[in-house]
Amino acid sequence: MIDLQGKNILVTGGAGTGVGGGVSEALQEQGANLIIIDIDSTKLQRAQKQYLNALCIHADVSKVVEVERMFQIAYNEVGTLHGLVNNAGVGLSKEAHEVTEAEYDRLMDVNLKAYWLCAKTFANYLIKHKSSGNIVNISSIHAHSTTARYAIYSSSKNAIIGLTMGMALDFGKYGIRVNSVAPGYVHAEQNFDLISTWTDDPKGWAEEYKRDHQVIDRFIEPIDVGRVVAFLLSDYSRAITGQQIYVDQGTTRLLFSRSFVP
Ligand SMILES: NC(=O)c1ccc[n+]([C@@H]2O[C@H](COP(=O)([O-])OP(=O)(O)OC[C@H]3O[C@@H](n4cnc5c(N)ncnc54)[C@H](O)[C@@H]3O)[C@@H](O)[C@H]2O)c1
Repeated sequence: MIDLQGKNILVTGGAGTGVGGGVSEALQEQGANLIIIDIDSTKLQRAQKQYLNALCIHADVSKVVEVERMFQIAYNEVGTLHGLVNNAGVGLSKEAHEVTEAEYDRLMDVNLKAYWLCAKTFANYLIKHKSSGNIVNISSIHAHSTTARYAIYSSSKNAIIGLTMGMALDFGKYGIRVNSVAPGYVHAEQNFDLISTWTDDPKGWAEEYKRDHQVIDRFIEPIDVGRVVAFLLSDYSRAITGQQIYVDQGTTRLLFSRSFVP
């Protein structure tokens, strides 16, 4: 079993019901002390009940002042931090020529700038205190290949690969590893709102996707992503840095949909 006992790990968007929830659940399962950051107060209250020992902090990770404040609260309350999971993200399904500047800026602020801001603040603290640490960035299958209406989202997730590679090189000499996890379609309730923007039958779409567009015909659950994050935060992965792992049931390895070849 991966042992994260005594490790203080901060998860942005950790109160979410999708990947964020899976990460929080997996880290708790492996014994970590959770620091959960979220912009949604209702979700944070629910998370506080679900993860009894977690420190829950309300913050918008795209704002430098709030990032500095949340790290300060975390250090004051728990002392040393050992890990950071950059998970908070927003989706957008819109053709590139229809996206507004405000939508573009908001998406990039949360999906890219915030990852850098949190990693930078965390790394500066570790360097100052001569401690080692671990960063895991949540990217997406859209970093590898995308679909119509996802140009801007895909750009942000592709940029996470560059950020992960570059920060791994910059931080390696301080004993800080940086990796990313790129999930495929994760089966979680909150996805249905987004899927409903292109189909009247989100459940049917998800079933078809699982059957035809994954090598393994089983939904990816949030905890499946969380357990890979736990591995990357643990010493079992101590020789891995600057890498991206796809948690996609093989989608990125398929050339055609499975139904294409009977
Ligand atoms: N759900 C999927 O199928 C899927 C697939 C691939 C990648 N991802 C990525 O996983 C991550 C989590 O997405 P999810 O859809 O699973 O949702 P999630 O359930 O993890 O929720 C995201 C959380 O982030 C919070 N958040 C949003 N903006 C924030 C901000 N500015 N500051 C602080 N918190 C903020 C939200 O309130 C929410 O609780 C994202 O980076 C997303 O791009 C998701």
